[in-house]
Amino acid sequence: MGRLGVVIVGSGLIARFHANAVKHSEKLELRGFCDTFSFESAKKAAAEFGCEAWNGYDEALSAPGVDIVTVATASGMHDEAVFEAAKHGKHVISEKPLSITVERIDRMIEACEKAGVQLGCILQTRWDDKFVDAKRRIESGELGKVTYAGIRIPWWRKDEYYTQSSWHGTWNMDGGGALINQSIHMVDWLVALMPPVEEVKAFCATLAHPMETEDTVSAAIRFEGGALGGIYAATSSFPGRGKFMEITGTKGTIVFDDDKDAGAASPDSFEWDGHMKCFEAFADSVNGIAPYPIDGREARKSVSLIERVYRDAGIR
Ligand SMILES: NC(=O)c1ccc[n+]([C@@H]2O[C@H](COP(=O)([O-])OP(=O)(O)OC[C@H]3O[C@@H](n4cnc5c(N)ncnc54)[C@H](O)[C@@H]3O)[C@@H](O)[C@H]2O)c1
Repeated sequence: MGRLGVVIVGSGLIARFHANAVKHSEKLELRGFCDTFSFESAKKAAAEFGCEAWNGYDEALSAPGVDIVTVATASGMHDEAVFEAAKHGKHVISEKPLSITVERIDRMIEACEKAGVQLGCILQTRWDDKFVDAKRRIESGELGKVTYAGIRIPWWRKDEYYTQSSWHGTWNMDGGGALINQSIHMVDWLVALMPPVEEVKAFCATLAHPMETEDTVSAAIRFEGGALGGIYAATSSFPGRGKFMEITGTKGTIVFDDDKDAGAASPDSFEWDGHMKCFEAFADSVNGIAPYPIDGREARKSVSLIERVYRDAGIR
């Protein structure tokens, strides 16, 4: 099976993780970077990785040998790139959150289905051993009747993270703050491991940073079937501690305590290997080997819960 050609839309921090992951995969080949926001930035990234640079979707997506588009732009721009990929008949996998509202995600799913292209979302922690193990243990009934599931993401970001970015912590480009940006991986675990959410009661606050959206979230959840749950999500917790999850039931308890959590105090101190797992699974899906586990509908679940938290807290 030949390598699938990849265009990366976006050329900032995470686009370089995409490029490294693609370059190290035997299933994929990097064609280039497309950045409609900053051509200079695309050219710089292309020079680093030895590939093409484009500043328009038409040129990038009509280039020879392009099979897959990966989206690494500011979150409020993901839908635009997905619509363009669908228009050009290309399979597309986007960074988390798939988009910043459920309504936008529904339009993205529809566009990809109509175009007959696959849509996936990068939520690389789904490939973590701890997640895979938790899923197996819950599904095997090892925990008995599950009574509670809670996540804590007590992270820290400096003021500059918000003040020196044109999009972090804004409603129109980030879609929220600590919950949708930093905490979505753990929200994704919660929705993947537990039944659908029945009810949400939430508070959101901006306590530590000069930003438009929230840096502190406290929410209580009731899941279908009766189990209760909780979310504490923050970028206001100095110096930043590891992600935590506890799922407990009548016969057992799972505790995930990531005391070496690299993201707790810094946005770029993790590796690109998780992205490679996502891309290779997506390539297998495009090649008809196995469906990609986080398609549009699966990625919609975390954004839906986040939206319900914001709505109940009255901030969106
Ligand atoms: N999977 C992960 O663990 C992970 C980690 C970090 C970031 N991300 C996601 O990757 C995406 C990009 O994040 P990043 O850290 O690379 O951001 P960044 O600021 O470094 O790069 C943003 C990119 O979007 C482009 N862009 C388009 N429109 C823009 C606008 N209006 N304002 C600002 N930039 C605009 C920029 O040119 C640039 O290429 C986000 O959706 C973020 O949530 C995912």
